[in-house]
Amino acid sequence: MIIAIDGPAGAGKSTVAKGVAKRLGFGFLDTGAMYRAVTLGVIQRGHMPLDAEACCAVARESELAFDSSDRITINGLACEPDIRGETVTRNVSAVSAHPGVRDIVVARQRVLARERGDVVVEGRDTTTVVFPEADLKFFLIASPRERARRRAAQLDQIESVDDIQRDIERRDQLDTTRACAPLRQAEDATVIDTDGLGVEEVVNEIVRQVEGRVPRG
Ligand code: DC
Repeated sequence: MIIAIDGPAGAGKSTVAKGVAKRLGFGFLDTGAMYRAVTLGVIQRGHMPLDAEACCAVARESELAFDSSDRITINGLACEPDIRGETVTRNVSAVSAHPGVRDIVVARQRVLARERGDVVVEGRDTTTVVFPEADLKFFLIASPRERARRRAAQLDQIESVDDIQRDIERRDQLDTTRACAPLRQAEDATVIDTDGLGVEEVVNEIVRQVEGRVPRG
């Protein structure tokens, strides 16, 4: 069974998806980590993130996989926490915007999900482009204010909630209007508004729907 979880930046997709996978004993596929891994490879080889051909070559030559703890590896080598660093974070949007890179990474996501059987897949475009046939789809939303508050609580440095909110609104605008695989809600996704809900409550709601699911077809 494939459960796909999608939504804008900062809506809690990743934490919720991991929680759902753990509760159900499913695998977990972090699709953002795969774009981050390609971006790390691009930077390590000294390529420019805007160079589509170089980015595609790196994507093609990188065997992306996950170890038994669901941590990503490139050509068998662990790359956490390097893929979470500032340089990768700053450049991953550019690298993941190349259609050629997306084709390669999406194909790999489909293989990895199939291998796992029961899996929770998390990331923008997973309900629309990667797994339009997912058994269950969830689109998590939260107001920009709430997402800014959560992000501020995670950050070490003091940054005002207003500044973070402006940044989130700018990212929403970019993510929903970009040419390739823009963030959009699948028609058959269940929308969960996470404003005022804790992670556990959102996980409970998704698990409840999975367990009460009437099989398709
Ligand atoms: O979820 P994240 O921050 O780890 O994602 C990293 C980047 O990859 C982010 O800029 C969005 C992009 N991404 C994407 O384009 N498609 C996905 N399915 C997942 C992430």
